[in-house]
This record gives sequence, C-alpha cells and structure tokens, in this order.
Amino acid sequence: MKVLYVCTELFPFLKTGGLADVSAGLAPALQAVGCEVRLLLPAFPAIANQALSAQPIAPLPEGQMPWGPAPALPPASLTLITLPDFELPVYLLQAPALYERPGNPYLGPDGKDWSDNAIRFAALGWAGATLGQGLDPDWLPDVIHCHDWHSGLTPAYVRAFAAAKRATPATVFTIHNLAYQGLFPAAEFARLGLPNAWFDVNGLEFFGRVSFMKAALRYADRIATVSPTYAREIMAPAQGHGLDGLLRQRANALSGVLNGVDDQVWNPANDALLPARFDADKLQGKALAKSALQAKFSLEPRPAALVFGAVSRLTEQKGLHLLPQVLADMVQRGGQLALLGQGDAALERAFVDAATRYPGQVGVRIGYDEVTAHAVIAGADVILVPSEFEPCGLTQLYGLRYGTLPLVRRVGGLADTVVDCTLEDLDEGSATGFVFDELSPAGLLSAVRRAFVLFRRPDEWSAVQRRAMGLRFDWLASARHYLAMYQTLRPGAK
Ligand code: ADP
Ligand code: GLC
Repeated sequence: MKVLYVCTELFPFLKTGGLADVSAGLAPALQAVGCEVRLLLPAFPAIANQALSAQPIAPLPEGQMPWGPAPALPPASLTLITLPDFELPVYLLQAPALYERPGNPYLGPDGKDWSDNAIRFAALGWAGATLGQGLDPDWLPDVIHCHDWHSGLTPAYVRAFAAAKRATPATVFTIHNLAYQGLFPAAEFARLGLPNAWFDVNGLEFFGRVSFMKAALRYADRIATVSPTYAREIMAPAQGHGLDGLLRQRANALSGVLNGVDDQVWNPANDALLPARFDADKLQGKALAKSALQAKFSLEPRPAALVFGAVSRLTEQKGLHLLPQVLADMVQRGGQLALLGQGDAALERAFVDAATRYPGQVGVRIGYDEVTAHAVIAGADVILVPSEFEPCGLTQLYGLRYGTLPLVRRVGGLADTVVDCTLEDLDEGSATGFVFDELSPAGLLSAVRRAFVLFRRPDEWSAVQRRAMGLRFDWLASARHYLAMYQTLRPGAK
C-alpha cells in the first residue's frame, strides 16, 4: 500500500504545534504496519536546509487540464530528499517565490497570514494530486493522506481528475483543528485551477469565500479527526465552525482516530533532556526533574509544593485565560506554577505580571523551547490543559507518560484520554488525572482543589501516577486504524 502523506510540519525539522509531532510519529508508524510511505511538504527553509541528498523529480504540470486551466503558480517543481535520522523519503515542493521566506510557515513577520497563502497552499494541493497522476514515474501512491486545510485542495484536484475519467488514488483527510479553515476571498478562486462550477455551496464555497477545509471535507473519500469525542463534537453547531452540516452529511465517512506518543521523544526512561531518567518503579529521577524545574523557573525549592505546569500556544483555544484568576488561590494553598508558552500578547503580559506578583511561586517563560518543554512536562506534578476545545491534545498524553497528572477540561481528546479522580474511579483504579466541565475560573478551581486533596494523600497520588505512566497511546494503534481505512478504499493494493 503506497501512501503519500501530505503535510506542512515535521518534528524536529519544523514545528509550530502538535501537527509536527503527528507527522513524525504517524508516518513512520504507517510504514511499520506495512505501508510504503513518502511525505510531501513545501520546501520551507527549515526543512530544505537539512536535506542530506536531493534528487530532482519533475516540474509541476501547467497549462490546460480536462476541466480548465491548471492553477496559476510561479515556477514549482518536486525534489525527493532524505533527512537526517528520518527513515522515510520526503518530496519537497520547491517554489522559491512561495516558500523561501523567514520564520513561520503560515504567518509573516507581522504575525498576519502571508497575503498569498491561497496560492502557496494551492500549490501544495496541486503537487499532491499530480503525484497521484504519475508526476514521479517511479512512484505512484494508492492513497493520499492529507492533514489540515493546507493540503485541503489535494482531494479537490484528485476529484477533478477523477471526474475527467482519470485513474486516481483514494484520498483521506485528517482534521487536526477545524478552527483553522483556510478561508480566502472569492476573487482568488479563478487562480486555483478548479472546475468553475465548484465555487458553489455544494462545492468549496463557504459564505461567499473559498474554503480549503470545506474542499477537503467535500471531496476526500474519508475524513478522520484526532479523537472520537472531537469527531462527535464537530458534527454539532457549537464546535462545527459552520461546517457541522456538511460533516453530518458525511457522517458515514468520518471517524475519530486518537493520536499517539512518540516513544523516541517523549519517554522518561530514555529522555536525554532530563537530569536523570525515570520510570514508574523508580521515581527518584522525577524528584530531580522537579527540583531542576523549580530552579529553572526561579521557584522556591520546596519538594512539598504542588507544582502545576503548562506548555502551550497561548490562544483562546487553550483556556489558559482562566488561569490568572485562580493563581491567588493556588499560591495560597502552597502551589506553584511553571508556564512555558507564547502567542496572544495580552495573555503573555498577564502571565509575566503574575510572575512578578508571586515571586518564587509563579515562573513564566515566554517563547518556544523544546528543552524547557521537556523540563516542565517531566518536572511538574500536574500538567494544565483547560482547553475551550481540543481536537486531541498531546501535552496531556506526555504528562501521563511522565507521571505528571493532567488537569483538563472534558472536551475533545482530553475527555477521551484522562479519567477524573472521582471517588468511584479512584476506588476502581481507573483515575489518571483531574477533569472539569465548566469553562470558568470556578470550574478550573474545582479541579485544582481536587489535585491538592489527592496530593495530601501520597499513597493514592502514587497509585494514580503509576496507572497514568502505565498507559500507552501508541502510534501503531492509530496507524492500524488508518491502514484498515486505506484497505477498504483500495482493497487490492499491495
Ligand atoms: P496544539 O497542536 O493545538 O498546539 P498539542 O497539544 O497537540 O496542541 O501539541 C502541542 C505541541 O507543541 C506539544 O509537542 C508541545 O510540547 C509543543 N509546544 C507548545 N507550546 C510550546 C512552547 N512554547 N515551547 C515548546 N513546545 C511547545
Ligand atoms: C491540533 C490540535 C491538537 C492536536 C494536534 C495534533 O493542533 O489543536 O488538539 O493534538 O492538532 O493532531
């Protein structure tokens, strides 16, 4: 089964969030369950600069297609590269005018979307679809698996080829976050090289604009998202972002496949970024990680303090705006906070202020830093993920693995992966963290208080910790789900 994996981020080469961790974990796992996987990404400098070898493949097709003109792109071609310590071949879409820019793949230095994002990501979609038409004469995928709106036009172009009676691969599209949709003015449509009739409510038109997300949801053969609960949530208006109706229509094609944890990167037993390795039977290393974290964040070196940690993009989605309002209570109960994050300027300021207000008890790092992320996830007692919505969430999974009990809101993948410390679930031995429902400071505080209660009962705390550390969210399990999906779409493929 030849699978082309189309995405925009790949850890450790280029990462803005969980999407990069998923590419690095899922794509090799698909290979491990028997697929032959290649990736396709834009040639962003962070990736292209690390290529060990590069082989030119072909320029992207231009000119007249059976349904009309191809997308109007600047010169663009594919190369096949290898990357250090990454086993899978990677197609890079070389289009210097589109991708050779500093910084973030999606945003300019002003923090705003690049103004030509429609054509930048249409090019990625076109590269994916034309690889499905034999652009690389040596490798033809059976399935093209796309991720998030950036590759949303691939299924649409594939469908356009199919409508012109060309043989095409099957398409699978995974939604990692329905909140980001790739919406562009109607005037962009003419350049995208799609059949004219598709700028329609039954195509990819969305309230007068072009939606790359809708294109994918409309034209992919199968749709997945990253947790079963999020799959249900996005079929209802509250979390459907206007696409719940379409998702309900496609309910039979939609499934939730939970993300996993990459054992090579997030495993306390072999994490080279920690002062000492540890596991459920030897927690001494976790105590060292905790004191190292307190030192790193200028927190008082109190082993008995309940340390809350957070590693997050600071956006509305993550619910961290609730946190400043419960800090006084947390600190008064003897708790500490170590927060690593960046994003929304007002939230950044609120946390920096909090660190000044509670010296020695609240430590804040604004920025993006992989090493500090490991320090927080390993060293804290509790990892906070109070999200408003969360398609899957990875930091709570990392927390579980490191015996850092997740404190989460009951939404999306958080609801699917953390079991609250209710008396019943403690008694049954299934509790793994702290879960609350109401998106309010009071809701958050109720779970924070439960964490303090459990922390005062060290035997019960370690029982929950052991259970959490024993859970496995294995990428192979997700890969097997996807393989079964590919097999129903292409039963004969080897
Ligand atoms: P999302 O993709 O919505 O941001 P996830 O929980 O799926 O949320 O994934 C977030 C990933 O990004 C995790 O690997 C987390 O450790 C990492 N991360 C988030 N913020 C930072 C930061 N400021 N510094 C380092 N890593 C971060
Ligand atoms: C998105 C979601 C997050 C998910 C990640 C990887 O960034 O916000 O919940 O874990 O994608 O699938």
